Amino acid sequence: MPKRRATITAVGHYVPEKVLSNADLEKMVDTNDEWIRTRTGIVERRILEQGGSSDMGARAAEMALTHRGISADEIDCIIVPTVTPDMFFPSTACLIQEKIGASRAWGFDLSGACSGFLFALVTAAQFVETGMHSKVLVIGVDKMSAITDYTDRNTCILFGDAAGAVLVEPTEEEGYGILDSILRCDGSGQNALYMRGGGSLNPASHATVDRKDHFIYQDGKAVFKVAVVKMADVSAEIMERNHLTGDQIDWLVPHQANLRIIDATADRMSLDHSKVMINIDRYGNTTAATIPLCLSEWWQAGKLKRGQRIVMASFGAGYTWGSILVKWSVPDLSTATK
Ligand code: UT7
Repeated sequence: MPKRRATITAVGHYVPEKVLSNADLEKMVDTNDEWIRTRTGIVERRILEQGGSSDMGARAAEMALTHRGISADEIDCIIVPTVTPDMFFPSTACLIQEKIGASRAWGFDLSGACSGFLFALVTAAQFVETGMHSKVLVIGVDKMSAITDYTDRNTCILFGDAAGAVLVEPTEEEGYGILDSILRCDGSGQNALYMRGGGSLNPASHATVDRKDHFIYQDGKAVFKVAVVKMADVSAEIMERNHLTGDQIDWLVPHQANLRIIDATADRMSLDHSKVMINIDRYGNTTAATIPLCLSEWWQAGKLKRGQRIVMASFGAGYTWGSILVKWSVPDLSTATK
């Protein structure tokens, strides 16, 4: 019997309206537009002024369901990669289940930081490939502004808020769908990028607040050095083991943390830079949302087309990293169910 393969059948996204530009940040910390653009590629990012991650995630999920032309009560499972859940519990997946009215679903949050979306996509694919489920929503969402210290120029220029959602279903189309994945983690990177406070090791207290333990800390240089190697390596590895060359890949869909890391990955893949999805200039680093946000925007713009071969790649806190090879099977927007 041929293997039941999982595929992405719909995409959606949500970005809040409020824009925080480099010029705005110049007024808040000792930084400048030129430094931010040249060191990171970021020009502006979005900030959610009211509500939590579940509000953005629900909007992204609803867009995906609308494009697919199905109602939320057909969903079996909701997986929400995030490092900024509305609260520790109940899970953001439960909150989104209620908001969208997914009456038959179960779900859970997944902690994989910037690789959370890739980890969750592979998890969803397992439920579909085993036959346990037929419709799994993966919603990458982060409200990074909730854990960003806007007096710390090392981090506050980097992050933004957004959500991206994909629907995962089975496909019988030969050669289409989620074809291969390589996922990794290495806890020796734990001290380079973290939020120390609020968990069981350092529960919230006046002291943790005074120490700013409830904000992101990043040793940018240390993370950069590893990220630039690992994200490129894992992208090249998935191409090599699938006997693919750069001209056989239509899109690299990279996690959007730093334009220099993205460029290095494309170079390593011998990929023309016009084939790289980049929206870091408009949204900054939205952690678990970067990759599905790209997929949704590029599909809606008619640039990501059915039949194209894409490689998604990420690197983030943990460390966590990975790559996924997909042959895109979502019908082009002109032919999709509206
Ligand atoms: O998404 C999760 C994974 N995260 C990543 O992949 C991020 C990886 N790291 C990076 O993207 C980069 O390391 C950053 C963008 C965070 C920083 O860029 P960098 O080129 O590594 O800069 P740096 O931290 O080495 O700092 C260079 C200089 C320093 O000044 P000195 O010591 O050379 O005088 C910093 O103090 O730039 C200074 N600096 C700034 N200047 C203006 C640091 N932040 C700023 C700022 N504005 N916002």
